[in-house]
Amino acid sequence: MSKTYLEKVYSVKNTEEARQIYDEWAGSYDDELLEQGYATPMRVARALAAQIQNMDKPVLDFGCGTGLSGAALIQNGFTVIDGTDLSAEMLAQAADKGVYRDLWQTHPGAELPFDSGKYTAITASGVIGSGAGPSELLEILMEGLAPRGLLAFSFNDHTLTDPNYMAPLRDWTTDGIASLLFEEHGPHIPGIDLGSTVYVFEKA
Ligand SMILES: C[S@@+](CC[C@H](N)C(=O)[O-])C[C@H]1O[C@@H](n2cnc3c(N)ncnc32)[C@H](O)[C@@H]1O
Repeated sequence: MSKTYLEKVYSVKNTEEARQIYDEWAGSYDDELLEQGYATPMRVARALAAQIQNMDKPVLDFGCGTGLSGAALIQNGFTVIDGTDLSAEMLAQAADKGVYRDLWQTHPGAELPFDSGKYTAITASGVIGSGAGPSELLEILMEGLAPRGLLAFSFNDHTLTDPNYMAPLRDWTTDGIASLLFEEHGPHIPGIDLGSTVYVFEKA
């Protein structure tokens, strides 16, 4: 029997492989993830909403995929969501959901994929770590975030054991780059018994 994308995705080795697998997966991603109880987008959106007063400021949903994470932001009261992603096919699905103000494709390796300082809140649900994007994204997002802005993201259980991803978080707090406002471990994809930690950091 052929493997499902969920079985394949955690062995993705680089950005090009990630783009290919998400392009192929786009049409069945929502069905497969929702069937397995995908919980992280709602957890990230709820954690961010708890830290923010003005829900009308634009939020950047980085690695928006098919838009499940944007839909979760809308359900938690945010009104203006922009999205960007590596995969054109995932973006096409996101556009169909009608929850984003702007959507565009990210081309890794190019300049910062959005105007620096434009966003006071950025989310990355299921985007950074094993099965998705490299640890360098942490620095890119923190750099592009507006001062005093909030970065809400998740690390799945595989990523939580990888020092390449964990070290930047420690450096942010010890070097005074950002402070940790929220951290909670919980369900990520219950159907495959995978958890995630949701973090909210505030940039200095
Ligand atoms: C597991 S999906 C999560 C999508 C969405 N946030 C959600 O919660 O359903 C990971 C997404 O990250 C995107 N991605 C991976 N690496 C990326 C990168 N370097 N830049 C932008 N997007 C990336 C993939 O294309 C994919 O759509």
